[in-house]
Amino acid sequence: MAVRPQHGEGLTLTGHEAVDLEKIELDCLLEALYRRYGFDFREYAPASLRRRVNRRMNLEELPSISALQERVLRDPAVMERLLLDLSINVTAMFRDPSFHLAFLAKVVPLLRTYPFTRIWVAGCSTGEEVYSLAILLEEESLYDRSRIYATDINEDVIERARLGVFPLAKMQDYTRNYISAGGKRSFSDYYTSAYDGAAFDRSLMRNVVFAQHNLATDRSFNEFHVIVCRNVMIYFERSLQQRVFDLFDESLARLGVLALGHKESLRTSAHADRYEELDVVERLYRKKK
Ligand SMILES: C[S@@+](CC[C@H](N)C(=O)[O-])C[C@H]1O[C@@H](n2cnc3c(N)ncnc32)[C@H](O)[C@@H]1O
Repeated sequence: MAVRPQHGEGLTLTGHEAVDLEKIELDCLLEALYRRYGFDFREYAPASLRRRVNRRMNLEELPSISALQERVLRDPAVMERLLLDLSINVTAMFRDPSFHLAFLAKVVPLLRTYPFTRIWVAGCSTGEEVYSLAILLEEESLYDRSRIYATDINEDVIERARLGVFPLAKMQDYTRNYISAGGKRSFSDYYTSAYDGAAFDRSLMRNVVFAQHNLATDRSFNEFHVIVCRNVMIYFERSLQQRVFDLFDESLARLGVLALGHKESLRTSAHADRYEELDVVERLYRKKK
């Protein structure tokens, strides 16, 4: 019987074998992360995962993904650094102003018909999106009858979101976004500058609940009139996207709105038929029944 050689010392790997080996190592790392800490990245899009893992491996000065796995298993501080890499927290205030304009035109009139609305911002990162939404609702006189539940997989970014202090250097861009998004006041009314930070008005958070929630593994926790989830599911494989759509469908009230932004779409989901498109470009959907 022929014995297949195992990859080992002294063996030269062809390009194809090296890629396969890296895939095995990556799968093992994700399995270890899940079994040791409960964070499930096993159904995230592999190309971006691989880039992030390689980056962390180099920053930790480790020779292989297996060596990173060994570290992650034994050292929670390395796990936290890897988690920050994997969860990709890029965000901005009034990001994609056209989304906010569409929200103002198509969703705000629906919100006026409810005495009280519960809104879930899933994958809220460091909170810029939540402060933007709070400002939008405040300016439409809807904030006092709204409650925003803002969640993310990553406890660190939630902590920063709670603080509400964003880099002062970003305020010029954010002011531009705010104006393009239909902002009605002077943007600087909402924050005070201290050193290099812009501290946002605490009262903007009076109706916000921040919590850790993992879209890949946690259950529905309330019924919402609006769910906003932008720039999150692009990092997921199709199977995980489908499960998250199931979770959102379960969590949305009848006639509730799912706001995905222009990068994600409900079109390929099993639920597509049960939603009407309120805005084709900004992917605002309303549940029919
Ligand atoms: C690129 S940011 C998008 C932030 C914001 N929604 C926006 O559009 O600016 C993606 C966020 O999704 C979060 N995330 C990734 N996987 C998640 C999961 N399984 N459950 C909850 N949040 C997740 C990340 O931690 C990160 O903060």
